[in-house]
Amino acid sequence: MSRFIVTVIAWVFVLPAFAGSTLSVGTWLKTQERISTEKLIANISPTDGSRGAVIASPERSSPNYYYHWVRDAALTMDVVLDLYDRAAKSEKSALREVIVDYLRFSRGNQLTLTKTGMGEPKFNVDGTAFDGDWCRPQNDGPALRAVTLTRFARRLLDEGDVAFVRSEIYDGKIPTESVVKADLEFVAHHWRKKNCDIWEEVEGDHLYTRLAQHRAMEEGAALATELGDSGAAHFYRVQAAEIRVELAKHRDTARGLLIPTLNRSGGLETKTSDIDSQVILGVLHGSGISITDPVTISTLKIHTDTFANLYAINAMPGARGVAIGRYPEDTYSGGSEKRGHPWVLITAGFATAHYTLAAAASGSGDFVKARAEVARGDEFMERVRLHANPDGSLSEQMHRDSGYMISARDLTWSHAEVIRAAHARSAVISTLPR
Ligand code: NOJ
Ligand code: NOJ
Repeated sequence: MSRFIVTVIAWVFVLPAFAGSTLSVGTWLKTQERISTEKLIANISPTDGSRGAVIASPERSSPNYYYHWVRDAALTMDVVLDLYDRAAKSEKSALREVIVDYLRFSRGNQLTLTKTGMGEPKFNVDGTAFDGDWCRPQNDGPALRAVTLTRFARRLLDEGDVAFVRSEIYDGKIPTESVVKADLEFVAHHWRKKNCDIWEEVEGDHLYTRLAQHRAMEEGAALATELGDSGAAHFYRVQAAEIRVELAKHRDTARGLLIPTLNRSGGLETKTSDIDSQVILGVLHGSGISITDPVTISTLKIHTDTFANLYAINAMPGARGVAIGRYPEDTYSGGSEKRGHPWVLITAGFATAHYTLAAAASGSGDFVKARAEVARGDEFMERVRLHANPDGSLSEQMHRDSGYMISARDLTWSHAEVIRAAHARSAVISTLPR
């Protein structure tokens, strides 16, 4: 069938069904949040794998995502921590167990002999090394894992469980036997090294990776201070300051654009526009450049306008919001097609960016602006809603012409970003006067 016919059929059938739905985005999102939470939890500790492994997706062929990716897992567990924070007392111990399983699986990853060591991007679900060809190392992984598990350590300290934190999370020893200390030492000593980007395609110095590393160093330093490891805390703070010098080089104020990669040393050469949504995810997942920084705000706008004009589905008459992809030159579809498509997790990430801007406006008492940013965020979530499967399952991508879900089904990270958006939305709405 021609692409045009597919598009027309999709538009004729999908759109009226959507237009007929009268649920507000907030009401829909509550249901979607519940479904996404179930699906995210279902992708943890697969029956044929080790406890604590997180599959990127249940999909085992074209694309085979049945692996534990260090990045996806850390971002997923950060959402599990959100759930832990929101859970009733009776539900907390089960969630705590999930995170402890992940923590122990991660320590196993650190000790497994792999091709590149700590920056190894993915593992088999039984914890053994994945030795196939891949773009490696990917040094955002240890940083994200440290951020998530540092946050877990702080919860446990609040609850008075110092012993567990000191034995399994941060022992303050060198060589260390604990997961976060190992990651922090790795980040502190290796953040200057070129590595592979989060889209697993380009070698160089990446803004996403550095924002994650910066956050790991800052929050790791705070944890080290709290545990009396003041020498390490100082060392991590010095690294954070030096990372900030590098972050500044990614700010192209003349173009109003955050630059994804500097000093490219290998991998794809097709990315010439410097428009890459991973920088927005970096601002959200890391620290060191604020969402309210004018260059972040203008980057958001440039990205949104670029993808609005790139994909046919963004021109669907009557449909709201913009579906966002990785970068305009992208050719990865997850299957055999050689064209890139918009992604669920990025579109939801753009919603979170606007909800976070709303929170900043609300914090400074500008409720008019806050409401406008909530409305902007809602448009991106309307987009996800329009293309989501009717049962709430979410794949990695939305077909750029038809809008149908494509590539890895029930991508854990897609559900994670939708839940993050839902949490960011309800948090800011609770601060707005009625
Ligand atoms: C698989 C990676 O997961 C994906 O991100 C990348 O775009 C393709 N390989 C092409 O290199
Ligand atoms: C491909 C994406 O580019 C990468 O960021 C992700 O980690 C893997 N898929 C697994 O979801």
